[in-house]
Amino acid sequence: MQIIDGKAVSKAVKEQVKAECDALKAKGVTPGLAVIIVGEDPASQVYVRNKERACEECGFYSVKYALPEKTTQQELNALVDKLNKDDKINGILCQLPLPKHLDDKEVINRIDPIKDVDAFHPVNVGAIMIGDYNFLPCTPAGVMELIHSTGVEISGKKAVVMGRSNIVGKPMAMLLLHENATVEITHSRTENLKEITSAADILVAAIGKAKFVKADMVKQGAVVIDVGMDRDENGKLCGDVDFEDVKDKCSYITPVPGGVGPMTISMLMKNTLTAAKIQNNIK
Ligand code: GUN
Repeated sequence: MQIIDGKAVSKAVKEQVKAECDALKAKGVTPGLAVIIVGEDPASQVYVRNKERACEECGFYSVKYALPEKTTQQELNALVDKLNKDDKINGILCQLPLPKHLDDKEVINRIDPIKDVDAFHPVNVGAIMIGDYNFLPCTPAGVMELIHSTGVEISGKKAVVMGRSNIVGKPMAMLLLHENATVEITHSRTENLKEITSAADILVAAIGKAKFVKADMVKQGAVVIDVGMDRDENGKLCGDVDFEDVKDKCSYITPVPGGVGPMTISMLMKNTLTAAKIQNNIK
């Protein structure tokens, strides 16, 4: 069994983005990212801080809008409208979840699709479906990079995605399909779950249940990717996969932390760079 080092792969992606950013700057273009965060959710604050740090590492211009919990939909919409028109801003990201009184769909739909570096706007989701896209959603794109880093062939293999969220499960299945995997999606109503997951050559767990995936759910020699960010019985950060139970059964496995997490941010940097190129007609 080999552990896939998400930190190392993520660093390599960021270094490449930085090199491309330097080349863009020589042409007078600095990629710019605006991050909006509403309220005080502690996990969101950590994510946003990490995104700002990554922007700095890559040489981007970045602005954070930390809005109070009581922000109205109108105020949030007005900020998005302003950022859509701002030439210095190539990417706009509104950190989710939003406080309950705000409508995340309304915000996502308002972001100009060409600045939607999360790839959450319906235009970008549709583009991914037909395989003709500018941006890939950050977490699934990061998972693909991690699988590629193993050198394991994807084409023709059986891939099982556990979870059907719009942010991870559904686009994840589509990206694996684009690379010619035979893909199955499981969810909370799936019958004979173990039978399905234990047939997977590539197993991606994105269900949000701590240590749910056990050795008897995994095929001998499988590649196991853990998208979970959960807390175990002692409040310690862990994934959807019971790492200790599963590790000796797989060929490759991602740890939590240090697996998928760092990749998500690197892919956001990549999308912001792409957005800057497109908006400035640079190939
Ligand atoms: N909250 C958790 N993950 C994400 C993400 O990828 N993008 C945004 N905007 N919010 C999130």
